[in-house]
Amino acid sequence: MSKSLLQFIIEEQRSIPEATGDFTGLLNDIVSACKQIAHDVNKGALIGVLGSAGSENVQGETQKKLDVITNEVFIKANEWSGHLAAMASEEMDDIYPIPSRYPKGKYLVTFDPLDGSSNIDVNISVGTIFSILRCPEEVTDPAAADFMQPGTKQVCAGYALYGPATMIVLTTGNGVNGFTLDRDVGDFFLTHPNMTIPADTSEFAINMSNQRFWEEPVQRYVEECIKGKDGGREKNFNMRWVASMVAEVHRILTRGGIFMYPKDTKDPSKAGKLRLMYEANPMSFIVEQAGGMSSTGRERIMEIQPSGLHQRVPVILGSKNEVERVVSYHKGL
Ligand code: AHG
Ligand code: MN
Ligand code: MN
Repeated sequence: MSKSLLQFIIEEQRSIPEATGDFTGLLNDIVSACKQIAHDVNKGALIGVLGSAGSENVQGETQKKLDVITNEVFIKANEWSGHLAAMASEEMDDIYPIPSRYPKGKYLVTFDPLDGSSNIDVNISVGTIFSILRCPEEVTDPAAADFMQPGTKQVCAGYALYGPATMIVLTTGNGVNGFTLDRDVGDFFLTHPNMTIPADTSEFAINMSNQRFWEEPVQRYVEECIKGKDGGREKNFNMRWVASMVAEVHRILTRGGIFMYPKDTKDPSKAGKLRLMYEANPMSFIVEQAGGMSSTGRERIMEIQPSGLHQRVPVILGSKNEVERVVSYHKGL
């Protein structure tokens, strides 16, 4: 039988002399949250959790019932055990400090409890994304400013994908590994060791309905993909758009590809759609650790100095040679 996720993490942490078991404990809590979310998502209409919650989040997006429920599940699973000092979620205006009735720990976590929630009512894959940071030393009551660390500082990043199978894919900076939930046993097992993204691909993912708002470099790249062999490219391209970033990144980790939610002029107050702290940074860490590349088109996403909890950034990630090509188009090459 393959290794359980917990065994994998304990063995990985053993090779780090200063590891105290805190990180393993934290990850175990996150795994419990994802199991609970998998259950809720899977039961869906049977337990009355589909549909709109009738509220808006801080970013002005209508919340689904499951956005609210999964946020609560993630908090409840992670607030009590003493590994965290605070959390921040896509679905909450401000950070969530650990309540005073619980011990505080040395880590911070940011999360998107339900990614792709527009897909939930139509029974298409959704996910959970998380990123673990260290709480700055000497800080006992973290503020939002303590979360403003570039993606290069992440200790761990991962996602759960609730698809035909439920999976957790994660990195601690030592490659990327995928685990599949065995519902009968109630545990995740290592099924996808050392996931890597091929450098070349002939599959791109972008929401084409935004085409008229894109900048010139992205227009040029996508036009070339569409023209394929009849244009300047040596091959024809295929296109996919699930509208769940977790599902797109998982496809790219499995068979390669390029995913773009680029800068556009749709709403000049927003630099992009995806959120740096909950989506772009964790996915960039995973993609880079799998040998891929992740950029806004102008800079490496993980080097961005965050300026706000809910900051949005353009995202172009996946197979290295294609992302490099899009970056070179941004340089006017
Ligand atoms: P969320 O459901 O957490 O708000 O995230 C949805 C994101 C991302 O998962 C996906 O790639 C993108 O939004 C889809 O956007 P469009 O609906 O504009 O295609
Ligand atoms: Mn999301
Ligand atoms: Mn979400």
